[in-house]
Amino acid sequence: MRKSIIAGNWKMYKTINEAIDLANGLKRELFKLNFSSVDVVLCPGYCALSEVAEVLNETDIGLGAQDVYWQDEGAFTGEVSPVMLKDAGCQYVIIGHSERRQFFGETNQTVNKKIRASLKHGLTPIVCVGENLQEREAGQTFNLIKNHLQGSFEGLGAEALLKTVIAYEPVWAIGTGKTATPDEAQEVHQYIRQLLKEMYDEETAGQIRIQYGGSVKPENIAELIGKPDVDGALVGGASLKVDSFSAIVIKASEVVK
Ligand code: 13P
Repeated sequence: MRKSIIAGNWKMYKTINEAIDLANGLKRELFKLNFSSVDVVLCPGYCALSEVAEVLNETDIGLGAQDVYWQDEGAFTGEVSPVMLKDAGCQYVIIGHSERRQFFGETNQTVNKKIRASLKHGLTPIVCVGENLQEREAGQTFNLIKNHLQGSFEGLGAEALLKTVIAYEPVWAIGTGKTATPDEAQEVHQYIRQLLKEMYDEETAGQIRIQYGGSVKPENIAELIGKPDVDGALVGGASLKVDSFSAIVIKASEVVK
């Protein structure tokens, strides 16, 4: 059995005070949640990490960053190391988000280095893969996913893979209101698991959690997560409000597979 994992990617939203308010609101709403059926992670911007960590202290809600650099320290102006993220209270880190690939030159090679560095410091990487609209329309979805997965995990063994979470985020569904249908999501999630089986083995592939991301809302979470290979969600816009994110988490916790 794979435990579902719902993560909120706050992207470049929320000042420190707004982040504290949102985290406090979620803490209140999710107080009674059965955390044995779902993992919950909040990923604020760097500036608010330690304040949100303080709010989440002694709760079952996890904390993640949205990116990381692969060196422990050094003259790398503007970068943030895994050591610093641990120090700020993070347990997770999103790596290779499509916005980083699209706007900041992220490649499979840099994703690979970031996964290695995160694992070295005990952070759980949430590794994003996904095709854009052009690639989907050209029938290249599976090839693109294969390229992202093989490149990102190159040289990494099953032990490393087992410590990561994968997020399938079709770029055409991010922030557009256009969600992949549950069947479309399942088709790609199943492909990802099949590919991991070929790259590693059946047991390893069967244990990896694969989140779906792209316009996830309270209205569509249950159906998405009801699919056999969809093990959670990486939520953008709907994670910025207490009502919508807590509704997503509660609905996900009620889905019995
Ligand atoms: P939206 O939920 O706003 O579509 O964003 C998805 C996403 O990119 C999460 O990482």
